[in-house]
Amino acid sequence: SKGNHRHYMLKEIYEQPVVVAQTLRSYMRRIDDQVSLPIPDFDLSAIRRVTIVACGTSFYAGMVAKYWFEQFARIPVDIDVASEFRYREPVLEPGGLALFISQSGETADTLAALRHARAEGQKIAVVVNVPTSTMAREADLLLPTHAGPEIGVASTKAFTCQLAVLAALAANLARAKGRLSPEEEKKVVRHLAEAPAALNAALAYDEAIESMAGVIAGARDVLYLGRGPDYPLALEGALKLKEISYIHAEGYAAGEMKHGPIALIDDAVPVIVIAPSGPLFEKTVSNMQEVQARGGKVVLISDYDGIAAAGDGCLATITMPKVHPLIAPLVYAVPVQLLAYHVAVAKGTDVDQPRNLAKSVTVE
Ligand code: M6R
Repeated sequence: SKGNHRHYMLKEIYEQPVVVAQTLRSYMRRIDDQVSLPIPDFDLSAIRRVTIVACGTSFYAGMVAKYWFEQFARIPVDIDVASEFRYREPVLEPGGLALFISQSGETADTLAALRHARAEGQKIAVVVNVPTSTMAREADLLLPTHAGPEIGVASTKAFTCQLAVLAALAANLARAKGRLSPEEEKKVVRHLAEAPAALNAALAYDEAIESMAGVIAGARDVLYLGRGPDYPLALEGALKLKEISYIHAEGYAAGEMKHGPIALIDDAVPVIVIAPSGPLFEKTVSNMQEVQARGGKVVLISDYDGIAAAGDGCLATITMPKVHPLIAPLVYAVPVQLLAYHVAVAKGTDVDQPRNLAKSVTVE
């Protein structure tokens, strides 16, 4: 049931601190601050390349994972949307791990890609929320998310739980590759363990987000910008807006703006900038200032320090708790989801059952 919530989507957004904690518990041991996999004897040390395949929101979780796997484990990663994967005739060499990410475990394009990868001799890992699904059954390495049933067509809690599993997998890969000392591993586990409380703190800004939803609800087009592991969040934010509020939205890598989309900027196109404090903050802010210099109206999502440093001149700001960059993609998913939700409610659309969409897409 929806409990006290008006929509399943809102209920599922609010479940995130609990379900992310639940998911993380099966991927790390707090007793010695080590990450672990549900199949402990699965050998990751021989893996030479990871190929990630998924659709929609699950694909954006995969994009975040690419940054993590390459940064921490120094393993090269390819990533495709499932509908493109087979047709580009990917080169799949021995020693490859093919990783499929899906809430439902039934998405037809992703399943067809999985079978193709198996036929090409890849080991098959699956991050999936429905434990009885077809993809779960066909995995060599089954990596469940414990989000519980997700009813809203717009994926929310499944996404943050996928990120939790993928961060733990990145740490496992890094350890297997000899790139994570026990000290570093302890730190990673501690940062991940902070995610549930940080998600809770992010949810506390719900009313503030609701009160500024009108700014976005009146727009015809919206741009979302982010950098590094938060760039996929810009794509996810734009997808959420499109899906449930029917507002045309695009996500861009912040630095790519000046190569074209900046021509769209005027005071009628709100630009939402995702910029947590961290190594990429200054660069993202300078892209934001390029927008402001052209009369663009910016909504800045950052932490207190980021907003103190760069919030002047913004149309609105959304303050997040200050978190380690590793967990920023999980935490910043919350404002992105809530903003889409409140904009959709303001527009009076059918939040849980958007037009033309199905929860599980079982045709190719
Ligand atoms: O069940 P899956 O994760 O395989 O579904 C993939 C996409 O269809 C799904 O994420 C879709 O994009 C959502 N409606 C996004 O909110």
